[in-house]
Amino acid sequence: MGRPTQGRARSVAAHAGFEGAAGKVAASVMARLNRDMERAAVSELDPKPGDDVLAVGFGPGVGIQELVPRLERGCIAGIDPSATMVEHASRRNRGAVESGQLVLVEAAADAIPFPDGAFRGVVAVNSMQLWRPLEGSLLEVARVLAPGAALVTVTHVWAIEKQAPLDEWLAGTTGLLGSSGLDDVRHRTGSFRSGAGLVLSAHKPRSRNHFAP
Ligand SMILES: C[S@@+](CC[C@H](N)C(=O)[O-])C[C@H]1O[C@@H](n2cnc3c(N)ncnc32)[C@H](O)[C@@H]1O
Repeated sequence: MGRPTQGRARSVAAHAGFEGAAGKVAASVMARLNRDMERAAVSELDPKPGDDVLAVGFGPGVGIQELVPRLERGCIAGIDPSATMVEHASRRNRGAVESGQLVLVEAAADAIPFPDGAFRGVVAVNSMQLWRPLEGSLLEVARVLAPGAALVTVTHVWAIEKQAPLDEWLAGTTGLLGSSGLDDVRHRTGSFRSGAGLVLSAHKPRSRNHFAP
């Protein structure tokens, strides 16, 4: 699973400083500082015990640690283009990997190696600002969400503002979420240990007629 995209995914991560020695340092800093943001994303999604959930850009795997006890009967999948992060998150969540509850794959958001409609929710913390191309990545997220399921992202405002003023970025991203087939876009800012964060969610619409193919 994910093999054809692995080489490209790894170079995306290396370029962004999440691979190798730099990645190891980043992983331990993020694990220390970002747990509250990961926890906020999981509580915003509010998954039920039997749901299947995808984590995109899981980094050191702290958010996955938050998901594991909430999904007693559900499965968790995670993608991250960094082999270093896959290694850290696997170590941090060894029990869930060994039990088969969790599968972690080296892949980027623009080529998600899972079937259409597979997930009741997708969470991404401090990752969406790195998705390239953003539109192709949102199309992929929309593809793997089940009808009625949600994407929840939490992102440092400072990281967004490296790209554009927050209002401008939000307007552009809301447009791309809509053109990717997601609606009911909601956002708010919150205060976290490492600074202000944007909590953004969007839903894949339910089919108007549930008998529709
Ligand atoms: C800033 S870290 C955030 C990690 C963790 N969620 C946290 O908040 O501590 C960004 C993560 O996104 C991953 N990433 C980078 N580009 C990505 C892409 N195109 N698709 C998915 N994940 C990506 C990186 O490898 C890294 O693990």
